[in-house]
Amino acid sequence: MIRRRVLDLCCGAGGAGRGYAEAGYEVTGVDIRPQPNYPYRFVLADAIGHLADLIATGGIERYDLVHASWPCQTFARVTAWRGSRDSHPDLLTPGRELLERCGRPWVMENVPEAPIRPDYLLCGSMFGLNIRRHRAFETSWGGGGELLPPCWHHPRILPFAHKGERAYADAMGCTWMTNTEGRQAIPPVYTQWIGHRAIDHTTAVSTP
Ligand SMILES: C[S@@+](CC[C@H](N)C(=O)[O-])C[C@H]1O[C@@H](n2cnc3c(N)ncnc32)[C@H](O)[C@@H]1O
Repeated sequence: MIRRRVLDLCCGAGGAGRGYAEAGYEVTGVDIRPQPNYPYRFVLADAIGHLADLIATGGIERYDLVHASWPCQTFARVTAWRGSRDSHPDLLTPGRELLERCGRPWVMENVPEAPIRPDYLLCGSMFGLNIRRHRAFETSWGGGGELLPPCWHHPRILPFAHKGERAYADAMGCTWMTNTEGRQAIPPVYTQWIGHRAIDHTTAVSTP
């Protein structure tokens, strides 16, 4: 069996990482803060510096896919509303430059209002989850026109829970996290789906 490896940058407590594991990847996470609930191999480091080192040393070749969840506070509407957007550094711009140089298939995920190309725009309702949580994914292969069910934006969606509540983390499928960690996470089904698209893409480019 082919063992694929993913580097999960800015991994948090592992919402994205869990999805890749479900898609069959061996997962290594990197975060600048300790993540005691992260379920996979973990490296405590600045993701920008770590990725730059892996590119410089050739260590990046170990990975079949590089994923990055650059912090979204600098772009999120809710941060602008709270008036603290400028206090969060933009890692997305230097991060994209490194990803474009890394020579491996890559994925960046962020809030839809971030300056990323939405090769895929995913929502919990597309996967039968009772949550409305949009995330844009920019990929090195540029998307592929896959058919996805439309969002189901019924106003009664998740009437019982708000972000930060236990029920919200559970509804995303992040049952092993604290509520606070769940607030930052993405539902694992998103990266499970993206992980399969990455496999389809790499299989397509390596098949003569
Ligand atoms: C949106 S959260 C990631 C959520 C995660 N992808 C998930 O699905 O559970 C962003 C993470 O970036 C981390 N972070 C912020 N700056 C960082 C840096 N310079 N290097 C590595 N991680 C960083 C934060 O500690 C936080 O855990």
